[in-house]
Amino acid sequence: MTFKLKPDQEQKIEDLISQMTLEEKIGQMSQVRHFDDVTPEEIKSKFIGSVIHTQGPVPGSTAAEWQDKFSEFQKQALDTRLKIPLLFGVDAIHGQNTFEGATIFPHNIGLGAAGNPEIVERAAAITAIESKATGFNWVFSPCVAIPFNEKWGRVYEAFSESTELTSKLTQASVKGHQGSNGNDGVLATAKHFIGDGATDFGVEGGNTSLTKEELIERLLPPYQAAVDSGVSSIMASFNTLNEVPMHAHKAMITDLLKDQLKFDGIVVSDWKAYSRFGQNEIINAGIDMVMAVDGDLDGFQEGVKAGVLNGSISEERINDAVRRILRQKFRFGLFENPFPDKSFIQKIGITEHRAIARQAVRESLVLLKNQNQALPLKRTSRIVVVGKFADNSGLQSGGWTVNWQGMTENYSGATTILEGIRKFALHEVKYDPDGTAAIEDVDVAVIVVGENPYAEFFGDIGGEMNLFQLTLTEEHQQLVQSYSQKGIKTVLVLISGRPLVITPQMELSDAFVAAWLPGSEGDGIAEVLFGFFDFKGKLPHSWPKSVEDFNGKYGPNYWESSIEPLFPIGFGLCYNLEK
Ligand code: BGC
Repeated sequence: MTFKLKPDQEQKIEDLISQMTLEEKIGQMSQVRHFDDVTPEEIKSKFIGSVIHTQGPVPGSTAAEWQDKFSEFQKQALDTRLKIPLLFGVDAIHGQNTFEGATIFPHNIGLGAAGNPEIVERAAAITAIESKATGFNWVFSPCVAIPFNEKWGRVYEAFSESTELTSKLTQASVKGHQGSNGNDGVLATAKHFIGDGATDFGVEGGNTSLTKEELIERLLPPYQAAVDSGVSSIMASFNTLNEVPMHAHKAMITDLLKDQLKFDGIVVSDWKAYSRFGQNEIINAGIDMVMAVDGDLDGFQEGVKAGVLNGSISEERINDAVRRILRQKFRFGLFENPFPDKSFIQKIGITEHRAIARQAVRESLVLLKNQNQALPLKRTSRIVVVGKFADNSGLQSGGWTVNWQGMTENYSGATTILEGIRKFALHEVKYDPDGTAAIEDVDVAVIVVGENPYAEFFGDIGGEMNLFQLTLTEEHQQLVQSYSQKGIKTVLVLISGRPLVITPQMELSDAFVAAWLPGSEGDGIAEVLFGFFDFKGKLPHSWPKSVEDFNGKYGPNYWESSIEPLFPIGFGLCYNLEK
């Protein structure tokens, strides 16, 4: 999508800028949450430019209430002297995942395995519709990181470690989210610029010690693809680049992204970046809109004002920021249609949307091993399904699902893997959630194991929180071990946000499926396990063979590494191969 502004709109932007006071301009650059940070009245008095929803109190209990809440804010904005409408942003990372009942797609790592730009575009277009239905016109997606190390807690937010595949899917995602004419889409955000997934040892917000050449070759192409597709915004990253905070990196943000790549949209900061990364330095580096959340708003507004008045920030820098923000507001028709459309509400979680999500689930599955004709399952087989992950839509969906850190219970509208298997099996399917059931008269066990949900630094391995490991938990290893001794066939399904070290469990099982984080349509997995559809997924990452392989700065995917993975990127079997 490269729809442009009409020539008279560029003129309107200049007219508006020429009328704006400094306070009004700084207000446009301010982004706040809909609770705690401001009251509706302060939207008006502080000339706020954008409101976001992420973790925290929800705007209401129904989509209509969400819309009403945001309309109340919008009315305040339209009641200002210049009547500039607000942008409403949301962390719609895999569908409109902040609204329970929305269609939740596989996380990007699964879409990377599917490798199908068409499905990425359709998923993004559906996300746009369901986001609009809940009152938003901007999403903070797609993450276009190139993860170098499976220890990073956000590997699953990115499509792949392949720069080429990521660029291709980025293009599709931006196109799908933004639509083709400014009315049917939402602003998309390519994030996090740049080096988020390439920090040393995979630490969220850590230091990236790549050279500029490496960075340009490996990490920049998805951003180029996003810009060429007309992406509306790009979010700066928490990491430092050779010890310089990315938010304050003028050479990267202004010289490279804006001047060289010709990005004319909004560079938005990440969470609380003003107080964390150098205050006015980030504005001078080229940040246009600041997530002035969690107590940052007044310090940001006053600090920038003082900076302009004492000459340390130029008025032209402020005008550039405001011009970019207004450009997107015009481009997406907000001056004409500032309010959400109630008719979209009925589209949330509809069958057609879920059918696309189910297709994405099927195409994302990667078959890594299939012996003794364990798969496809026969409808006449006597099946036991094992493990809590088999019947829990929260566990199967990962972080950014209803809550920031995800859910460990079922959520509305979703189906589970067990439900899918029960649909097709002709005999009663036994369910053994914790591996303690007495098993008789069974031919095959489908064992579902995985990682508990996590988001951001909570999922780092060896980091601050250290809640996770690169292997299965002891409990899950036990489950696989005990079932492998029962003299029945075993099919292992792994729910995870990254490739884990599962070398021993792979040996113990007859078949192994990497299912990533499928989202709400868990029952789609059964359609492939029973052979109604073939496996299409290919590994979007090389698969590690041992934990030790990750002791260095980067993982086995580091291009200068001589470490052999267990499976190379691009690997994936299908039923045809077994015939
Ligand atoms: C994350 C972003 C997210 C933002 C807003 C940050 O902590 O890094 O990816 O869009 O929060 O919730």
